[in-house]
Amino acid sequence: MTDAVRAHTLGEIMDLRVRVLRKGTPTTHCSYPEDEYPDVVHLGITRDHGAVATSTWFAKECPEMPGRPAMQLKGMAVDDALQGSGLGALLVESGLAHARQRGAEVIWARARDSALGFYERLGFNAVGDGFIDGPTAMPHHIVVRSV
Ligand SMILES: CC(C)(COP(=O)(O)OP(=O)(O)OC[C@H]1O[C@@H](n2cnc3c(N)ncnc32)[C@H](O)[C@@H]1OP(=O)(O)O)[C@@H](O)C(=O)NCCC(=O)NCCS
Repeated sequence: MTDAVRAHTLGEIMDLRVRVLRKGTPTTHCSYPEDEYPDVVHLGITRDHGAVATSTWFAKECPEMPGRPAMQLKGMAVDDALQGSGLGALLVESGLAHARQRGAEVIWARARDSALGFYERLGFNAVGDGFIDGPTAMPHHIVVRSV
């Protein structure tokens, strides 16, 4: 099957976000202040019954690289049943092209430590000290990649 990445509405991806990213956490909602940013894009892949992969992209300076034009990706989630089949990598590839088009020099994310291997596989490096994310109570690192 060939999966096309396209811009989704928040309504199309919210159920997937909550299901994947709030499982086993103390938080039940998965709305971000950045969802209101004027340049926000929810890249996603939809199959028959709805969205199966999503990540949200917007311009935001990376705290570890002040002054560099940057895009953050947030809310990276792939349906449990489809994880490990290349959809996450497809989204990052598409987001990278989007970031390049917008003139970003770096892309970055607040990555949960359990997903660090995914980001490193795609050319990101962890920078700075680890921290515990509020909504998930999970250990995280910032990861960055040149565009
Ligand atoms: C993390 C996540 C987004 C990755 O998407 P995915 O579609 O499963 O990943 P892909 O199949 O595209 O994997 C790309 C590569 O990263 C590797 N990889 C994927 N998830 C990994 C993980 N958690 N740890 C280590 N490596 C991982 C794959 O093995 C693959 O390597 P390969 O190219 O050598 O085969 C997805 O597994 C997910 O939604 N996980 C639960 C929620 C989560 O952790 N989100 C990230 C929050 S920061």
